[in-house]
Amino acid sequence: MMRLLAHHRLTRYVKDCFESYRCISNSCQSDEYIRRFISDNTEIVGGQSLTPDIKLRLFTPSCRFWYERPELWPFDDPYWAIYWPGGQALSRYLLDNPAVCRGNTVLDLGSGCGASAIAAKLCGAAHVVANDIDDVAAIATCINCELNSLEPPVCVTANMIDSEPEGFDVILLGDMFYDEALATTLHSWLDRCIKTHGSQVLIGDPGRAQFEEHGIRKLLHQLAQFELPESVREENYGLTCSSVWCYHPEL
Ligand SMILES: C[S@@+](CC[C@H](N)C(=O)[O-])C[C@H]1O[C@@H](n2cnc3c(N)ncnc32)[C@H](O)[C@@H]1O
Repeated sequence: MMRLLAHHRLTRYVKDCFESYRCISNSCQSDEYIRRFISDNTEIVGGQSLTPDIKLRLFTPSCRFWYERPELWPFDDPYWAIYWPGGQALSRYLLDNPAVCRGNTVLDLGSGCGASAIAAKLCGAAHVVANDIDDVAAIATCINCELNSLEPPVCVTANMIDSEPEGFDVILLGDMFYDEALATTLHSWLDRCIKTHGSQVLIGDPGRAQFEEHGIRKLLHQLAQFELPESVREENYGLTCSSVWCYHPEL
């Protein structure tokens, strides 16, 4: 799996070819097909994360694509098949502090597997939107909600940070500061959300360099820090803990 993500650039050309083939040969690639593909190529996981109370379909060493050649993967890179340490800390924090979401409108931006959206729902949020630009992530989120006996959130696959902010009470960002350019776009969009709507912004991050070195970092207030479980450390190359931050700038 980690190999799969690391080979992103090398395999882009091959994947583009595959994509063309897929579109031509399988134009009816329905949600049902993708659901089946996810079920066949992931495993239900609970217990090894910071939120053992949330069950998720994820890649594990028992899954074919953990080891498989990346060019055989038929979709965009499967970020949704990993429960990232930033999202784990954020979801743990929400479950420990249910009043943050209870009765509120909540946006999980870059929702991936949907765990933070699920945590918000478990805490009694009035309305939850899971936004991820990957269509497959939206389907994975619906499957994961069903696993936890929850109605799915509203899943939006448009790039919301390109558009006028909507009025969410709470905006969640789990492990979204992994790329400098994305972090900078997010920073200015979050400023607009706060200025226009007074949204509360919560960020989960395990101390990635792109986060620690970004301008937003000095404007954050730490709310909690969690030690990562051993299996999460092993999958994340030496990261040992993950924190939740509140972004509350003077604007
Ligand atoms: C590192 S994963 C984090 C997933 C999840 N929040 C977690 O912590 O497990 C980042 C996710 O952000 C999504 N993403 C990247 N750019 C995005 C954008 N502009 N808007 C929404 N989602 C985006 C990716 O598709 C991916 O699923």
